[in-house]
Amino acid sequence: MHQAVEVTATRTSNTKRYAKCIEVSKRIRWDIDKDVIRGREFDFGKKFMPDGLSKINELTFLVPAEMRFLSQIQGRTYANMFALVERFISAKILEVSKHHWFEDQVALESLVRLTDEELKHQELFRRLDKMAAEGMPAGYDFKPQPNEIANAVLSKSTWAVLGLTLDIELFSQAHYRSSIEPDANLSDLWKDVFLYHWKEESQHAIVDELEWRLEDERLTAADRDQSVNDLIELVGAVDGTSQLQAGADADYFIQNAGRKFSSTEEAAIRDTLVKAYRWQYIVSGAQEPRFVEVLKALVNPQQLERIGNALAPIAAHVAQ
Ligand SMILES: [Fe+2]
Ligand SMILES: [Fe+2]
Repeated sequence: MHQAVEVTATRTSNTKRYAKCIEVSKRIRWDIDKDVIRGREFDFGKKFMPDGLSKINELTFLVPAEMRFLSQIQGRTYANMFALVERFISAKILEVSKHHWFEDQVALESLVRLTDEELKHQELFRRLDKMAAEGMPAGYDFKPQPNEIANAVLSKSTWAVLGLTLDIELFSQAHYRSSIEPDANLSDLWKDVFLYHWKEESQHAIVDELEWRLEDERLTAADRDQSVNDLIELVGAVDGTSQLQAGADADYFIQNAGRKFSSTEEAAIRDTLVKAYRWQYIVSGAQEPRFVEVLKALVNPQQLERIGNALAPIAAHVAQ
């Protein structure tokens, strides 16, 4: 195909995909109070984080009430982690919307809707943290600061940030489908929050992919190679954040579990939380078939290998 014809064809098919995202986003749009919370509170007699993500079954010395408490801590952190990443995702999407300002108005509308939804999600997750605090002992501490993290992430190339964003928005859907939805022992409210979140995230992942591919077209080979380094550094930053919060959550659990653990047990609790968070926030997303497919389309085999090498020790720890 002639190049100009090809570009026009791609733009037309992109516009259709953005339009579909707007259509679905309007159809499934929900309200925090009217649709999600509906005057309910958390049922602290049930788990929050599903077994498929929490890895707590590996801690065989815990009694059921302790497992439930640990899953509630992880579920509270999970909501806070989403609020954290949504801070930089909103900012980046607003920034890349400039490419559509005087071009495709349908694309612009879908990016504005995505940002609006992420602002609503942050509000929902702040509400959840307050509600979780009401039924949990004092002392829970969410350590990473959303604005600090956002500044660090946004100092990297747009290509790298969009890649990380696609990864996050894909794993949020995968977690719901494969672990949250099938687990019958979760708090109804906690489960519903991630059902409604998933409904809106499904459109976000489509938009992220479109924006990542468009950004990729703007890069020279040298820019892209540097962006691969940036993506690897971002993975390292996510790992640092995961480890930081895993440590804080282990401290909080050990202090509030109501009994003394042996030093071997304490070490197992700490290690399992790091493994669980590495699984939740890094490895599960990196394995998502759609993510791998898009990444492979954008990078060369050497760059793919560099990314694979950076992930290997983290994946090996999770698999232990
Ligand atoms: Fe979200
Ligand atoms: Fe999102």
